[in-house]
Formats: sequence, C-alpha cells, structure tokens
Amino acid sequence: MGKGREKQGMKTISILNLKGGVGKTFTAASMAYELCRRGCKVLLLDNDKQGNLSRAYGRYDAESVAPMTKLLSGEWARPDEIIQHTDYEGIDIATANMSLFGAAWNLAREESENQLLRYAQLGKSKIEHHGDCTVWAKYDYCIIDNPPDIGLNVINALAVTDEVIVPVKLDNYALEGLDIVAGQIKDARRFNPGIKLAGVLVTSYQNTDGESAALEWLQGQGKYKILGVIKYSKKVAENSFLQKPIYEYSPCCGAAQGYKKFVTEYTGEAR
Ligand SMILES: Nc1ncnc2c1ncn2[C@@H]1O[C@H](COP(=O)(O)OP(=O)(O)OP(=O)(O)O)[C@@H](O)[C@H]1O
Ligand SMILES: [Mg+2]
Repeated sequence: MGKGREKQGMKTISILNLKGGVGKTFTAASMAYELCRRGCKVLLLDNDKQGNLSRAYGRYDAESVAPMTKLLSGEWARPDEIIQHTDYEGIDIATANMSLFGAAWNLAREESENQLLRYAQLGKSKIEHHGDCTVWAKYDYCIIDNPPDIGLNVINALAVTDEVIVPVKLDNYALEGLDIVAGQIKDARRFNPGIKLAGVLVTSYQNTDGESAALEWLQGQGKYKILGVIKYSKKVAENSFLQKPIYEYSPCCGAAQGYKKFVTEYTGEAR
C-alpha cells in the first residue's frame, strides 16, 4: 500500500466511536464552526449514510447520488462535483445520504487495488483555475464525521486521518468499545503509519454522581487523554432541527462554551 496522501500543512481529524448517539456529529459540526471563527478553512466530509452532518449545515439531499458516494465508488472527475460551499465562508462540505451504504457494499466486493485510497484521491486532485493547488492544500482542517460502525468508508477515512477524536458520553457502558477503537487505529497504521489517537472528548456531561464517578475513573486511569468535557445543554437537545451552529443561537450555553474551550486547547489558538 502506498503512502496514500500528499498534504501540505492541512490536518485531517476523524470523529470516531462505534457507539451511536455520543455526539460525534455535533462535535464535527461545532468544531468546524469554531475553527472557522478562528479564520481557518475547513472541509467537512460527511462519512455517515444518515447524513446528519449534511443536515446540520443545511445541505442534505436525499434524492441524488451523494458526493461521498461518488467519492467512495471513484465515479467523479473534478473536486467541484464532490465539494460544495455551506452558508459559512470557510466551511465546505462533501455530503452523504443513504446511497453511501450501497457504495461501501460494492467496494467491499470489488477488491480493487486502490480500495483504501478513494478519499486520498480527492485530496491529491487539483482544483480548477487554482494552478497547482490541491484540495488538501486549500484547507487548514478536514473533519470527517463517521458512522457508529466500521465499513470500507471508515477505513478510507482512516487512511487519510492524522488524528482521531473519540467523543464519549459517560452513561452506562460508555467506555465499552473504546479499546476496540484504539485497536482499529493501531490496525490502520499498516496503511497510514502517521495516524494518532488524539484522545477522548467527554460529551453531554451531566454532573450526576454516576457521571462524575465515571469521569474521575477515566482521569485516574490515564490510558486515554481527555481533550475536554462538554456539558449537556438543554438548548442543544431541544434544537436538533434548527440546522444552525450552537454558538449562533445560544453562545452562552454550556455546550457552546465547552466546544470553544476545547478547540482553543486543541489547536493552541484562542479566539
Ligand atoms: N452537549 C450536548 N447537550 C445536549 N444534547 C447533546 C449534546 N451533544 C449532543 N447532543 C444531542 O445528542 C444527540 C446525539 O448527538 P449526535 O447526533 O451528535 O450523536 P452521534 O454520535 O453523531 O450519533 P450517531 O451515532 O447516530 O451518528 C443529538 O440529538 C444531539 O443534539
Ligand atoms: Mg452522527
């Protein structure tokens, strides 16, 4: 397997956890917004057939073959068939819908040589009217929102990932599966030697006896770096259909403040 990517300063972050409903998509959407506020150019890849990240940025389209599906099946020619702008200057997205499921399934049967390099090919391709500028070179960050399972689409994401962030919700059995994710990242080193587990991000945190005990245990265990603790906010739970970044409709709520602090610490850049 080749190196699989050619990057110039851009960082690719995969948001990954095999558990559903732990705040992966909300984390991807909020990080993009926070990075954009800091002047960064962000490319979002919606790697989940549920298309929730595409919805969060108002670009979900159930009908057509989704750009991420074309990317995974290799059926595209120019980056502008895959990437579109959002309403936010500095945030672009490649959207998904249910058609991604079929593409992952077909690819699994194909056994073609560049089976793991489908997303890498987007990064290396040149942007029209931009001279030699590749897609990777155009952005500061690429954030990939993954589904709660591991298929060939996730393997393709890991092939281009620099760092993995694992959102966890400290409810019952929250930490189950963490070792499996860590193992998966280790396996991915075979085709992407540089991939790293950045750490876990505690999401939807409520200061109950159970959750504070779980947080203490996680901190004391020292196995996984804790990148931040995002509080549960009623505003978030209530406004899933608002299709607006949390920082815009409720900048003072615990979750918005939590993501702001987390991104500042993660990037080392305040805003
Ligand atoms: N800090 C928070 N406070 C309150 N609710 C939250 C918070 N973070 C996420 N949620 C809510 O929890 C639900 C699940 O979040 P999200 O969709 O981001 O999870 P997910 O891990 O992407 O799920 P899936 O595995 O289905 O893709 C959503 O309704 C979201 O609005
Ligand atoms: Mg999701």
